[in-house]
Amino acid sequence: MTGQSRSEIRAEGLSVTYTGGGKVTRAVKNCSFCVLKGRVAGLVGESGSGKSSALMAIPGLLPAGTLVSGSVYCGGADLAALSEDELAAWRWRRVAIVPQGAMNSFTPHLTVERHITEVLTCHLKIPRREGGARAAELLRVAGLDAAMLSRYPHELSGGQKQRAALALALACEPDFLLADEPTTALDVITQKEVLDTIVNIVRQRGMGLLLVTHDLSLAAGICDALIVMKDGEIAESGPARQVAENPSHPYTRLLIGAIREMDVPR
Ligand SMILES: Nc1ncnc2c1ncn2[C@@H]1O[C@H](COP(=O)(O)OP(=O)(O)OP(=O)(O)O)[C@@H](O)[C@H]1O
Ligand SMILES: [Mg+2]
Repeated sequence: MTGQSRSEIRAEGLSVTYTGGGKVTRAVKNCSFCVLKGRVAGLVGESGSGKSSALMAIPGLLPAGTLVSGSVYCGGADLAALSEDELAAWRWRRVAIVPQGAMNSFTPHLTVERHITEVLTCHLKIPRREGGARAAELLRVAGLDAAMLSRYPHELSGGQKQRAALALALACEPDFLLADEPTTALDVITQKEVLDTIVNIVRQRGMGLLLVTHDLSLAAGICDALIVMKDGEIAESGPARQVAENPSHPYTRLLIGAIREMDVPR
């Protein structure tokens, strides 16, 4: 195992094919990409290009019956070689996910505190009575007041829910965060605030972040590297500045052109 392999998630020749309902959809086709610890990688592309499928394939969280081929390596180990128990521990402790629509992924009858203490108890064996203080600290880091601990999901605003989802993802101090459109459902100002919080935490802690977004201009301003997906394939990838300022693929140029057109004052 090399030093570098310990600090990266590497997908090699990853393909995802959905087979539900008698229909075959090749969502991800032979994609290879890296997420480095201490770096922010942006996975961009239009709706339906396969971003969420590629992200959810990393921790093995695609629906049953989905065909996945290729390899995902983390810490030099092929994740396909891990048992279901090892993979479950790996998911929270090495890699945590803020899924698309995270705000709808809470259990309605559990408070914010209970959501977090369940994870602490289950994955770090921290007794529930000790978990409360830790949960309050996690909320603080995610930009929420400790008073939110006793709230139920429906008592939080959209932005507060996304911050609570972030606190939950950070519970086991993972090395990597996979965030799928973490701010899309929010207004523009809240979007920026929540995204700034995520990026600041990731940078301060030297974590690796895979940020999925359809917004190339937003990603270009935040990310170190960009991976551009089109129709399940990687159109191009490279340092964010290079991809944004000097795109080599016509599709990336099209995305950038669409952004510039939207920027033209009417
Ligand atoms: N559970 C599923 N069953 C069948 N097909 C699916 C499933 N999930 C996604 N797909 C299909 O796979 C393709 C890629 O979808 P995916 O959700 O990965 O795209 P995306 O880039 O994340 O889009 P968006 O920006 O809208 O979230 C699409 O054609 C989609 O319809
Ligand atoms: Mg998606």
